[in-house]
Amino acid sequence: MTHYENVVILTGAGISAESGLDTFRDRGGIWEKYDLMELATPEAFAQNPARVHEFYNLRRETVRKARPNAAHYALARLEQEYPGKVHIITQNVDSLHERAGARNLCHMHGELNKARCQGCGAVSQWPGPLSQQSVCPACGAAGQLRPHIVWFGEAPFFMTEINHLLRKCDIFISIGTSGSVYPAAGFVQAAYEHGAKQTVELNLAPSDGKSLFSIRHYGKATRIVPEFVADMIRNAKP
Ligand code: OAD
Repeated sequence: MTHYENVVILTGAGISAESGLDTFRDRGGIWEKYDLMELATPEAFAQNPARVHEFYNLRRETVRKARPNAAHYALARLEQEYPGKVHIITQNVDSLHERAGARNLCHMHGELNKARCQGCGAVSQWPGPLSQQSVCPACGAAGQLRPHIVWFGEAPFFMTEINHLLRKCDIFISIGTSGSVYPAAGFVQAAYEHGAKQTVELNLAPSDGKSLFSIRHYGKATRIVPEFVADMIRNAKP
């Protein structure tokens, strides 16, 4: 029996690929089709808010139509059935983890279906299109709402909570991320240094940081994640 008290999972775009959502850096990925500097920086939004809104409105609509896949459901099952605490840290701005039933979840790069007011700071649910005319439900100001997304050059959300999770973590599992964007790319090293007994990579192909993982499985998330989760649950039984 192998039982871990604290399980920490980091997910990236690869877990949602089989739900029909493009990854960023694979062939044909989002940053091949679009210019990151024109869409995902605070400067880009200040210069051309309409273009940035149009990009995120399109992505919001695509996510709305997408469905969670077997990998999202497997992680929700792990959270419910594993006899230890399971936390998911996602870099994804889609809502597929929570729609699959995950609850211990933090969106470190923000959420597509929320908007934030640059005037009063309130964060509101925003399932539809956002524009320069949109009005903040909290303060009533028009023209102040932006996508609740962490852009390049901005600090990710929940870093205090994440650092706490990494300090306590017994097993760190990285799923569907290229490991190219910090600070998330450094979490495996942090978990290892704080005493995680295992570091696991589940990905389509080896990531930049592959040598930092003690266990590695490569293949599509909808196959390898449910398999790994089933093994974890089985191995935790006395
Ligand atoms: P990337 O596009 O950089 O990496 C996606 C990873 O998913 C790659 O390692 C692929 O091999 C893997 N992958 C692709 N299809 C898969 C499948 N079916 N099953 C399993 N793995 C698969 O995406 P992220 O690492 O998530 O930030 O990118 C990190 C951040 O960069 C994103 O959160 C986003 C982006 O710019 C912001 O928007 C702030």
